[in-house]
Amino acid sequence: MAAPDKRIVLVTGATGGLGTAMCRKLHDDGYIVVANYRSEEKAKKWQEKLHNEGHDIKIYYGDVADYDSCGQMIEKITNDIGHVDVLVNNAGITKDGAFRKMTYENWRAVLSTNLDSVFNCTRHVINPMIDAGFGRIINISSVNGQRGQFGQANYSAAKAGMHGFTKTLAMEVANKGITVNTISPGYIGTDMVMAVKEEIRNQIIAQIPLGRLGGTEEVAYLVSFLASEHANFITGANLSINGGQHVY
Ligand code: CAA
Repeated sequence: MAAPDKRIVLVTGATGGLGTAMCRKLHDDGYIVVANYRSEEKAKKWQEKLHNEGHDIKIYYGDVADYDSCGQMIEKITNDIGHVDVLVNNAGITKDGAFRKMTYENWRAVLSTNLDSVFNCTRHVINPMIDAGFGRIINISSVNGQRGQFGQANYSAAKAGMHGFTKTLAMEVANKGITVNTISPGYIGTDMVMAVKEEIRNQIIAQIPLGRLGGTEEVAYLVSFLASEHANFITGANLSINGGQHVY
């Protein structure tokens, strides 16, 4: 098996809180880290900030909600650097609201960005992984895909769908040296969670047995482990990292 420093990892939605922590950790592990972004201005500033702290990350544009855009991005990465060995499907958005008021646009936006994206990116990397006899697909889902959450019919549906995808693809490629897994983080201290009204957020934190939000690095270490050769026998799994908020 190739050493991590010969492997290429692509993290989608990389400039967000979780994505940033993953890029730092995977870079420290020795991977060639490729960050997908949608906003060029934000991505360039982000890249410079990480460069100044010693993390050299390559950035590539791609709209994960658009199949052709993902194809173009992955083709460019393959031509410039090489084929993607590890794909972290991390990009995601929220458009929270009680279902009785949820618009079709807010349903579609979340399903496209959070679930179609998993097809759009994975479909373009899977055959080169099969040819190489090695690959890792790591899907970043959510505790709210496991248990539901008031105001998140769209988000919960997309995140639950992601794990259905994981289970089937894991079976299909198990004998090709490729593992496919889901990570389901609980409430982590990201901008996405901090955007929830303080009063509601405090009620949610009160329901977490560990009594706090998770750290982005805590999720990044789990991604790092799943990407490594130590996790060869883990596939089709859904790993919870939620401070005990949802146990079963
Ligand atoms: N449980 C039960 N009832 C609730 C409720 C809850 N959590 N929240 C609101 N309600 C009830 C209210 O009591 C009120 O009832 P009445 O109509 O009988 O008076 C009614 O619902 C209010 O409905 P509204 O649509 O007006 O609710 P709102 O606008 O006040 O709030 C919401 C809706 C914005 C979705 C709010 O509930 C909310 O922010 N919820 C949290 C959503 C959340 O956790 N998002 C996570 C984002 S981070 C993330 O997603 C990362 C991850 O993976 C964990």
